[in-house]
Amino acid sequence: MNDIRPIPGSSTASPVLVDPFGRQISYLRVSVTDRCDFRCVYCMSEHMTFLPKPDLLTLEELDRICTAFVTRGVEKLRITGGEPLVRRDIMNLFRSLSRHLDSGALSELTLTTNGSQLARFAKELASYGIKRINVSLDTLDPAKFKALTRWGDLSKVLAGIDAAQEAGLHVKINAVALKGDNEDEISSLMEWAHGRGMDLALIEVMPLGDVGTERVDQYLPLSLVRARLAETYTLEDIDFRTGGPARYVSVKETGGRLGFITPLTHNFCEGCNRVRLTCTGTLYMCLGQEDAADLRSPLRASSSNELLYTAMDNAIARKPKGHDFVIDRRTSQPAVGRHMSHTGG
Ligand code: GTP
Ligand code: 5AD
Ligand code: SF4
Repeated sequence: MNDIRPIPGSSTASPVLVDPFGRQISYLRVSVTDRCDFRCVYCMSEHMTFLPKPDLLTLEELDRICTAFVTRGVEKLRITGGEPLVRRDIMNLFRSLSRHLDSGALSELTLTTNGSQLARFAKELASYGIKRINVSLDTLDPAKFKALTRWGDLSKVLAGIDAAQEAGLHVKINAVALKGDNEDEISSLMEWAHGRGMDLALIEVMPLGDVGTERVDQYLPLSLVRARLAETYTLEDIDFRTGGPARYVSVKETGGRLGFITPLTHNFCEGCNRVRLTCTGTLYMCLGQEDAADLRSPLRASSSNELLYTAMDNAIARKPKGHDFVIDRRTSQPAVGRHMSHTGG
C-alpha cells in the first residue's frame, strides 16, 4: 500500500509514488531540450538530428508536470538537457518552479549544465533559490576540451564556474572517465576542483545511443581509477549523499570529496529514487531501459490532473528493477538507442 501524505496547500491526500520494488520516487530529472551547444564525443554523434520544435512541451506544460510530481511526493527536481540553459526563456521555468521551494514542498531545485552559459545566468539562478549545481567538465586542457566537446570553449566554461561561485552557488564537477583521454588527468582535475572548494564526481561511460565510436574504446572502469588514486591519496569512504547515485570518499590530502558513479562496475539501481521526463513529455522509468510512458497526451487532454496522475501511477507501476548495461568487445549495440542528451542523464 502506498503512503498517504497531504498535498501541500490542500486538505486532500495524495499517495506518494512507490514502485513495485518499494522504492519511493522522490527525484525527477527533467530534460528541457535535447539540443546542446557542444557535441561531446561520448554523448552525441557529430551530426545529430534534433526534435522538431513543435513537439516540445511549453515551459508552462513542463511546469504543470513538475508540479504534479511535486504534489505526488517528488522533493528534488533537476533540470537537464541537452544543455538546459540553451532553451529559450528557461529562466521563466526556474522562477516559476521556485514557488515549490518557498512552500517547502521541494527540498532542492537544481540543474546539470555544461557551463557554457553560466556566466549569463548564474546570478539569476541563485536568486530563484538554486543552491547547488553540477557542471560537466572532463578536462582542463583547452585542446583536449575542444577535441572532447567538438564545439566547446574551455575559457567560457571556466568563466561560468567563476560566475557560479561568485553568485554563491555550490558547484560539483562531473567528469566522465575516458580511457586514453582524461585518464592521466584525473588527479589534477581533482586537485583543481578541491582547491576551489568543489566536489568532483567521476562517471563511468554508459552505452547510450550510437556515437560513432566503440564504447569499449572509451570505457574506463572506476574501480581501476580508484585503485590508481589510492596509490597517491588517502581515500576514506564516507556516508555523504546527495540523493544521486554517487558514492563518496573524502581525500585526506586535499580535504575534498570525490564521488564515483559506477553503473558498470557497481550497480546502484537497488536504491533508485528517480524517473526522467523528456522535453516532449515522455517519462522514462530507467535511464537504461527502452520502456517509457507518454504524459503529454493525458496532460493535454484535460485541464485537471486526474488523467495525468493515472498515467504517472501506471508508469511507476512498470518501473524496472534496473539497467542491463554491458560494455565489451562482443556487444557492439548500445544498451538503448537514445542518446543521453535525449533522456537527460
Ligand atoms: P547529485 O544531486 O549531485 O547527486 O546529482 P546526480 O548525480 O543525481 O546528477 P547528475 O546530473 O550530476 O548526474 C550525474 C550522472 O550520473 C548522470 O549524468 C548519469 O550519467 C548518472 N546517473 C544519474 N542517475 C542515474 C541513474 O539512475 N542510473 C544511471 N545509470 N546513471 C545515473
Ligand atoms: N555515459 C556517461 N555519462 C554521460 N554523459 C553524457 N553521456 C554520457 C554517457 N554515455 C554525462 C555528461 C554529463 C551528464 C549529464 O551525463 O558528461 O555530466
Ligand atoms: Fe551537450 Fe552534455 Fe551531451 Fe556534452 S554531455 S554534448 S554538454 S548534452
